[in-house]
Order: sequence, then structure tokens, then C-alpha cells
Amino acid sequence: MSTPDAAVMEFLLTRRSRPAKTLGAPGPDRAALAPILHAALRSPDHGKLEPWRLMVLERGALDRLARAARTRGAALELAERDISKGAGQFDDSPLTVAVIAAPKPSDKVPEIEQICSAAAVCLSLLNAALASGWGANWLTGWPAHDDVFRRDALGLAPHERVIGFVHIGTETVAPPERPRPDPQEVVTWLSA
Ligand SMILES: Cc1cc2nc3c(=O)[nH]c(=O)nc-3n(C[C@H](O)[C@H](O)[C@H](O)COP(=O)(O)O)c2cc1C
Repeated sequence: MSTPDAAVMEFLLTRRSRPAKTLGAPGPDRAALAPILHAALRSPDHGKLEPWRLMVLERGALDRLARAARTRGAALELAERDISKGAGQFDDSPLTVAVIAAPKPSDKVPEIEQICSAAAVCLSLLNAALASGWGANWLTGWPAHDDVFRRDALGLAPHERVIGFVHIGTETVAPPERPRPDPQEVVTWLSA
């Protein structure tokens, strides 16, 4: 057994997201974000296909995406509340990293495993941001799943999907507690 790392376990046992709406400026600058991105990319990846990519969305891009979400939401005839929610995550965020799944053709690694790898990147990114002292939140919402928004606003190829928008900024209020699962309820032990 290798040496236990109590600080990492303590982090994992107490970690929690900070709601995107409560994040303030500043977000990390490029130098501060670099190790966070680096950590995110050190994620499990069957076959070393690297079936993902990251897009860092700075203020100008976030403003453009908020406008695009309002235009697209109106074209979809969404309720005003849903349009505001979809656009608001870009309006409010100090900095956003979009985690994009980009599955590769493979006989060996099913697409579901490649999507799982992209989700692992997303969680590692979130945890690395939190461990670095930033507030962070993994959101999606309809802009992540609308094919026209994905193509026209984010420039994604047809086979690419948004796994998450990870919003990163400065914590402004104490994060709310969130009920956590009871291991007794969801863990089954099989001994034979
Ligand atoms: C794939 C995915 C998408 C999510 N999208 C949203 C979202 O659009 N809006 C939202 O309020 N929470 C969303 N969440 C939930 C939050 O990111 C997060 O689970 C919640 O805030 C608690 O996170 P924590 O366990 O890190 O504290 C999403 C979570 C996942 C895994």
C-alpha cells in the first residue's frame, strides 16, 4: 500500500460545488487556470484516445454566448424563465470551461466509455478548481443539448457534445449544505 494522503481524502469527503449564481469576479487568469486544466486532463481514458477537448470561455465569448442563447431560446419559443436561465449562466460567470466530448472511431472502446472519460475530465476540472480555492459549478441546461446552439454558437462538430460548462469564480457566500447519499442505501456488498 502506498502512503495515504489524508489531505486529499479530507478534500474528497467534504468537497461541494458553489452555485454558479453566487460566483463573483475575479475568475482565474490564464496562469492560475493552467494547472487546473492540466489536472483535468490527467483523467482515466481507455485506449488513450483523448476523446474530449476543452474550450475556455472568457468574458467576450461569454457575452456572445449569452446573446446567442437569448436569440436561440426565442427561436425555440422557450418560456422567458428558461431563456433567462440558459443565457444567465454565461452572463453571470467570471470564467467558464466547456468540456466537450469528441468520441473517436474505435473497435475497442465503446462510445459510452469515451463519454464517461469526458465526464471524468469534467469532475476533475471541478475538483481541481475547488482544491485551488475557487468556487466552481458544473452546469448544462438546454444550451448544452440544443444542436443548433452547439453548432452555431460553440462551433461543435456534429459528433461532439457538451458534457458540462464548468463555471469558475470567487466564492461570495457560504455554500449551502446539500443532503448527501447514505452509503447504506446505495452500496451493496457481494461476498460470494
Ligand atoms: C452532467 C451534470 C449536469 C448538471 N447540470 C446542472 C444544471 O444545469 N443546473 C443545476 O442547477 N445543476 C446542475 N448539475 C448539478 C450540479 O453541478 C451539482 O451536482 C450540484 O450543484 C452539487 O454538486 P456538488 O456535489 O459538487 O456539491 C449538473 C450535474 C451534472 C453531473
